[in-house]
Amino acid sequence: MQLIRTLSELRKYLPTLPRPLGLVPTMGFLHEGHLALVRRARAECAAVGVSIFVNPAQFGPQEDLARYPRDLDRDLRMLEKAGTDVVWAPEAGEVYPPGYQTYVTVEEVSLPLEGAARPGHFRGVATVVAKLFNAFTPDRAYFGRKDAQQVAVIRRMACDLNFPLEIVVCPTVRERDGLAMSSRNTYLNPQERRAAAVLYRALSAAKAAYQRGERAAEKLRTAMDGSLAAEPLARMEYVSAADPDTLRELDRIDGNALLSMAVRIGKTRLIDNFVLRDGTWDTGMLTRKDE
Ligand code: PAJ
Repeated sequence: MQLIRTLSELRKYLPTLPRPLGLVPTMGFLHEGHLALVRRARAECAAVGVSIFVNPAQFGPQEDLARYPRDLDRDLRMLEKAGTDVVWAPEAGEVYPPGYQTYVTVEEVSLPLEGAARPGHFRGVATVVAKLFNAFTPDRAYFGRKDAQQVAVIRRMACDLNFPLEIVVCPTVRERDGLAMSSRNTYLNPQERRAAAVLYRALSAAKAAYQRGERAAEKLRTAMDGSLAAEPLARMEYVSAADPDTLRELDRIDGNALLSMAVRIGKTRLIDNFVLRDGTWDTGMLTRKDE
């Protein structure tokens, strides 16, 4: 496995790899959710590239850029084992050199939900992902459904800007109690960690209501709200039942739907979702392993 820091070295190295090339963009501090993407890329592509870059452009001024967890040595060991060919871990100045002023703005799908709660976030995500697509020129790029709006934004951006690649979306990997794996889970103290399972319970409650025949979107939002309210450590930021492609809120669930939420547990902000597509629920995968 090759570790590369600069864009010019990456550009020299990539032509030595076989095609198709799969890219897995990450911000590091890897967990089983990231590794599931790498393994899927490994299974489907002749070569696998991973980027590790904590992208300053997608963090708001009040957000956790400085304290975002980092452990490059551990990440590299995990990536080597999962079958990665090349890791690009650039410095911020390599991606955004002095004088940098070009950004990618995806309009409507960036506005609600995470976009409303985190102004500028998806501008930062779309910009860095466009730059990663230009740097790697991958044939396929792998993303997690855990960040469902991010997937909608990146799909829109890749289509609108004519990136000649396939976007592959992988199910959310969860801890045994249903908590979606996230680098940010390390911020939770033991009591908060127990409380954090409420997101999965709330999504499950809304799915159960749907399965009992409930089709009014507002009733599903209320079901999520009610479950979250029962956990004293949880503060709901939003609950949503929206179209998974446009992110517009639904009145009735008569086709595809994205149930999603953002919740604060103490100071930590967590997001999660279930997706209903073509009559099938994607609720992610519970790990059987001990943590
Ligand atoms: P990061 O949060 O490190 O996530 C990298 C990729 O792993 C994303 O596609 C994310 O959806 C996926 N992922 C995270 N947790 C997951 C889980 N529990 N199950 C399945 N997939 C999971 O998302 C980002 O970084 C950044 O915004 C990035 C796309 C790299 C741009 O900077």
